[in-house]
Amino acid sequence: MDTLNVQGGYPLTGELKIQGSKNTVLPVMAAAVLYKGVTILTNVPMIQDVYCMIHILEAIGVKIALSGHCLTMDASLVESGEIPMEDVKRMRSSIMLLGALLGRVGEAVTSYPGGCTIGLRPIDLHLKALEAMGAEIFEDGTKIRASARKLRGAHIRLDFPSVGATENILLAATAAKGVTVIDNAAREPEIIELCLFLQKMGVSVRGAGTSRIRIERKKELRQTSYQITGDRIVAGTYLAAAAVAGGEVRLTGIYTPYMESVLRAFQNCGCDISWGKEEIALRSDRRIRAVPWVKTSPYPGFPTDMQSPFMAMLAYGDGVSMIEERIFESRLNLAAQLAKMGADIRVEENRARVAGQGRLHGALVQAEDLRAGAALAVAAAGAEGMTRIADPGYIKRGYESIDQDLRSLGGRIWW
Ligand code: UD1
Repeated sequence: MDTLNVQGGYPLTGELKIQGSKNTVLPVMAAAVLYKGVTILTNVPMIQDVYCMIHILEAIGVKIALSGHCLTMDASLVESGEIPMEDVKRMRSSIMLLGALLGRVGEAVTSYPGGCTIGLRPIDLHLKALEAMGAEIFEDGTKIRASARKLRGAHIRLDFPSVGATENILLAATAAKGVTVIDNAAREPEIIELCLFLQKMGVSVRGAGTSRIRIERKKELRQTSYQITGDRIVAGTYLAAAAVAGGEVRLTGIYTPYMESVLRAFQNCGCDISWGKEEIALRSDRRIRAVPWVKTSPYPGFPTDMQSPFMAMLAYGDGVSMIEERIFESRLNLAAQLAKMGADIRVEENRARVAGQGRLHGALVQAEDLRAGAALAVAAAGAEGMTRIADPGYIKRGYESIDQDLRSLGGRIWW
């Protein structure tokens, strides 16, 4: 059986540079499709989702060269708007190509994103917005076909500040004629980064990071080089691992203003943590203070992607903590896996009551999604004995080398 193996109980100490952000690079790669020429990205994380996106881009005609963490994409010739079905199944985020493909070739064909274990994840907001911009959408039960002879700017109010829908609208708006205004836009750092990239490409974008974004393409797009920012969720995961394993870590290569709510949450748990603009230091004696509530919400609230590593950490707490998951309903399923390691977590609807045990033990557990898999590695880092995490492929979707990273800090972890 393919497993990620962790021998717990070794403190994590040392310095680590954090990989580039998955959720930033994927929409920026989609945006590159809009420019008839070369786009260069640096600090690209070498993760499965990036490989999957490369596969899709090659299938539609983009020429790709990868050297180290530098990705060169030549989208001079994009001939097809059809996203291979197998890739849609492998990576839900391929849906973010809809807006870009519509803009570039006037057509996008995809199937329903499946294979996701963290909740329903509908795409109604994406489709409604693209329709408002002049796209016609045909759904036949298996495929979604969107076409638009000409996209036009529109005033769109999202019912929920969806990250993916905001990204799709931004990309469609880049190709549209006229002004697009998004109200109730997502404010996540990944939206800010995409807007910065589009600005560099020559698009006029105002309001990135606020609930109202105004976007208009006034001139021709231009060749762009862009450095992908550090991954705030990977950084948070490693902080949680150090908190439960003990030790002293220093993380670099991240932009901490994007991590405010998470860093404060570590403080609330009693962690000895401090940070500058691009680095974080955490020292842990393995004592985790229980907290009354961790509630996930859209940015600037506590991110749902950090909820799983936090649940793993709070399982080591000195009392009862409550978690409320308000974005993806199924993300509390992790509790059942942590229970195999001795955690006492009761889940009711979208709430989890985590009765901290101070200690957990190794077990054979199952990664059921990307962040839950990484959270099991967090739990395992502090546990007594050996943990084997089955289905570790999920973790590789977003973590370039969790094994090498934690080993470089003194952890015992191997594939
Ligand atoms: C992105 C991130 C993911 C993160 C999430 C929330 C990427 C590749 N993924 O996912 O890691 O956990 O943001 O920060 O960047 N919804 C609808 N209809 C829609 C779209 C969304 O009802 O058309 C709902 C979803 O079911 C969910 C909520 O809106 O409950 C948030 O989803 P969204 O912000 O769209 O997340 P993603 O873009 O899928």
